[in-house]
Amino acid sequence: MISRRYGVTKVPDLLDRDVVVIGGCGHVGLPLALAFADRGARVGIYDVSETAVATVNSGRMPFAEPGAEEVLRRVLAAGHLEASVDPAMVGSAEYVVVVIGTPVDEHLNPDQSAIPKALGGCAGYLRDGQLLILRSTVFPGVTALVEKMVAGLGLQIEVAFCPERIAEGKAMTELFELPQIISSRTLAGTDRARSLFGRLTSKLVVMSPEEAELAKLFTNVWRYIKFATANQLYMMANERGLDFERIRQGLAEDYPRAADMPAAGFAAGPCLFKDTMQLAAFNHNNFPLGHAAMAVNEGLPLYIVHRLEQRFDLASMTVGILGMAFKAGSDDTRSSLSYKLKRILAFKADAVLCTDPHVTTDAALLPLDEVLDSSDLLVIAAPHPEYRGLVTDKPVADIWDALGQGVRI
Ligand SMILES: NC(=O)c1ccc[n+]([C@@H]2O[C@H](COP(=O)([O-])OP(=O)(O)OC[C@H]3O[C@@H](n4cnc5c(N)ncnc54)[C@H](O)[C@@H]3O)[C@@H](O)[C@H]2O)c1
Repeated sequence: MISRRYGVTKVPDLLDRDVVVIGGCGHVGLPLALAFADRGARVGIYDVSETAVATVNSGRMPFAEPGAEEVLRRVLAAGHLEASVDPAMVGSAEYVVVVIGTPVDEHLNPDQSAIPKALGGCAGYLRDGQLLILRSTVFPGVTALVEKMVAGLGLQIEVAFCPERIAEGKAMTELFELPQIISSRTLAGTDRARSLFGRLTSKLVVMSPEEAELAKLFTNVWRYIKFATANQLYMMANERGLDFERIRQGLAEDYPRAADMPAAGFAAGPCLFKDTMQLAAFNHNNFPLGHAAMAVNEGLPLYIVHRLEQRFDLASMTVGILGMAFKAGSDDTRSSLSYKLKRILAFKADAVLCTDPHVTTDAALLPLDEVLDSSDLLVIAAPHPEYRGLVTDKPVADIWDALGQGVRI
């Protein structure tokens, strides 16, 4: 529940900026900083990546995000945005938004200390009267931990938790279109979060911090489980020689109750899997649905290779993987199942060649033509629009139906 306590209302004087985003050169921090700056706020970014800070200050995006680079140039020219590796930046604004990465470790354990640690690095610059807004997806209870931490530092700072819910690739529209969930322990904190996020949208949803922490995790887990359901149904149909995509489209035709059944495909990327594991850990690893979804989604590359092995002598073949990003149209390879597919195939096939028109961070990638020419068998792993209409005489495994020729393997 939100307390009736009004808490800290004094806003610090003589501030150069309205908002500082800690981790503001990242995939969600930068679009958010741009959105605030484009709505007239004076925005600072504090980020530990020197390369990303230099890239942003030079007017270039460190990663692809449609529509973002033109806004970046505009807000830099207007003097509304500056990025820095200097933690002193944190003391320059009334609103301090934290949006650093919160991954699980190699044993799938969440790191509850990621945000307190990041704040520890710049705590000397926090000042009384600021509103500290956690925007990262957090392990439930981290907001309360941060409240305790700032109180322990003797600071009069309100804390809010206002989770990010955009999808990469849609950030510059969704930031203005999606409702913003805002939460704080006090009415003053809630009012101030409302006033900041009210710059982006009039659709604000108020919750308690504990509700909002779960709301964010539930959102991602819900999506992950839906993808897993589709993937399991895909495998079931495929085992019987049936085309899941024909079945899915048929059952959803003019039938709204099934309209949200997703297509089969890799459910990957930096959020859905790790947030499902965060929620599982939060519930003492008692999360059969979440763990089943993980087994299905993470098992899909194994299933594909298993099916291909039944049809082809992989050991004598060169396999080409098309699309290494975690989803269509993206340049982001974080937690991409294309790389898991590559690892499995590298063990089974004679050779594996990879290509992707968007990814710029993998020196091993080859041009599409070279992969098409040199491969005996192709797998579409990320259904980039560039692959639609692809013409090849090689066999193609295409669980996404990117080529419109069915999804059977
Ligand atoms: N990527 C998405 O689509 C998405 C969507 C919604 C929510 N989220 C959540 O948002 C958070 C950030 O995700 P992301 O994808 O933007 O991560 P990211 O890795 O792209 O960005 C994080 C940024 O924080 C910087 N950073 C790391 N430690 C720092 C520190 N101590 N001080 C200052 N800067 C620091 C990094 O250099 C990087 O630029 C995560 O909690 C994620 O779960 C992500």
